[in-house]
Amino acid sequence: MEKIKTYIEKNRERFLDELFEMLKMPSVSADPAQKDNIRKTAEYVREKLEEAGADTAELCETEGYPVVYAEKIIDSKLPTVLVYGHYDVQPPDPLDLWETPPFEPVIKKTAEHPEGAIFARGSCDDKGQLYMHVKAFELMMNTGSLPCNIKFMIEGEEEVGSEHLESFVKANRERLSADVVLISDTAMISMEHPSIETGLRGMAYMEVEVRGPNRDLHSGVYGGAVANPVNILCRMIASLHDENNRIAIPGFYEDVAELSAAERQELNKAPFDEAAYRKDLDIKAVWGEKGYTSIERTGIRPTLDVNGIWGGYTGEGAKTVLPSRAHAKISMRLVPNQQSKKIEKLFQEHFEKIAPEGVRVTVKALHGGEAVVTPTDSLAYKAASKALEEAFGKQPIPTRGGGSIPIVALFEKELDVKTVLLGFGLDSDNLHSPNEKYGLFNFYKGIETIPLFYKHYAEMSKEA
Ligand code: BES
Ligand code: MN
Ligand code: MN
Repeated sequence: MEKIKTYIEKNRERFLDELFEMLKMPSVSADPAQKDNIRKTAEYVREKLEEAGADTAELCETEGYPVVYAEKIIDSKLPTVLVYGHYDVQPPDPLDLWETPPFEPVIKKTAEHPEGAIFARGSCDDKGQLYMHVKAFELMMNTGSLPCNIKFMIEGEEEVGSEHLESFVKANRERLSADVVLISDTAMISMEHPSIETGLRGMAYMEVEVRGPNRDLHSGVYGGAVANPVNILCRMIASLHDENNRIAIPGFYEDVAELSAAERQELNKAPFDEAAYRKDLDIKAVWGEKGYTSIERTGIRPTLDVNGIWGGYTGEGAKTVLPSRAHAKISMRLVPNQQSKKIEKLFQEHFEKIAPEGVRVTVKALHGGEAVVTPTDSLAYKAASKALEEAFGKQPIPTRGGGSIPIVALFEKELDVKTVLLGFGLDSDNLHSPNEKYGLFNFYKGIETIPLFYKHYAEMSKEA
């Protein structure tokens, strides 16, 4: 522990400078204009893994953006940890809501982060978190304390649905084989309450179009006599939830894994301050499916949300028009046992069925992924728990995360390996939102905790 702290203390500034270099690269995977910057970021991660002491560190081409792969095999008889992360980031829009530019990282103090937080797109999701692993690896190499084999797989398409990852994993089963996957791309409850997410939701992401008349019309000349696609789309979307905020697509809940009363009680023991939650978001009330708490609504229940909706005139002032088309992007978060393919089909059939005769609809599935529950009785979970306890002075609480990392279910299916979600972000770090941040405390605590995980995992594996 002392060795770890000393090493971090000595290299504090450099660690941060290097992370800043990466945060300056706008690796927005959704934006084709950033193609070169995405490759530059991949190359940067590769170079840092090589400098840290990897035997091999390379860019593996896919049909999309490259996967950075690196490994250090010290003894084939020792256990192997596969570290996953992503170097791509979400688009920074809306730009005018950023207090400082998204790709010019700065440190500012906040109430939550009195020691300061790094403000930049990707600071928490996931560059800051993946870089903790690169630096923890360097630390273990330079202090002669790497106790097991380590592999890195850092991808560049996570934020757009990891489209080419499945074929990459299938083509590289041998190379990626490991005893456990370690990921820092989730959150903990707070700095006072370390926690480990033990589940992630799945996803079915749809885009819909409603078409009315063959051209935009004068809303006075035609209005009232022709179906308005924007009105219709709103009505259709509104009908997707019932008065209890349950999703009204037939069959939607059919496969949902229900938790026992005891499991639900356990889940709700996690600290959750509803007043603070409301205050942080500046909302008067929470919202959601009747009969469930906020923790349950985000952790174990499926949802349906409009992510964006457009159509008609949205410029300055008033233009009277009856638009020809309306569009929406709709995501459904899924829970264990639901299948994304089946949900996509149920959604499509239902959406087509509820469309009135005056319009035509098209429904497209953009991407999907499956939910997972990760074990809490594995050696790796116990090692992670012990590492967090040592670093934070408190035993971490298992929680269920609301976000999605589709690769976790894929690793299970294709490589038969389980994951530990050792995340150090906070839900309030503004992921996917303006002014994303990552606490300096969280960054350095992560670098401190990760080597402890390796130490305990190697020791526990030896004993087992
Ligand atoms: N790191 C997030 C997922 C996450 C965030 C999990 C917070 C738990 C807590 C990841 O980068 C992400 O944003 N995933 C997408 C998935 C998608 C694009 C398939 C998501 O959850 O929206
Ligand atoms: Mn992420
Ligand atoms: Mn993300």
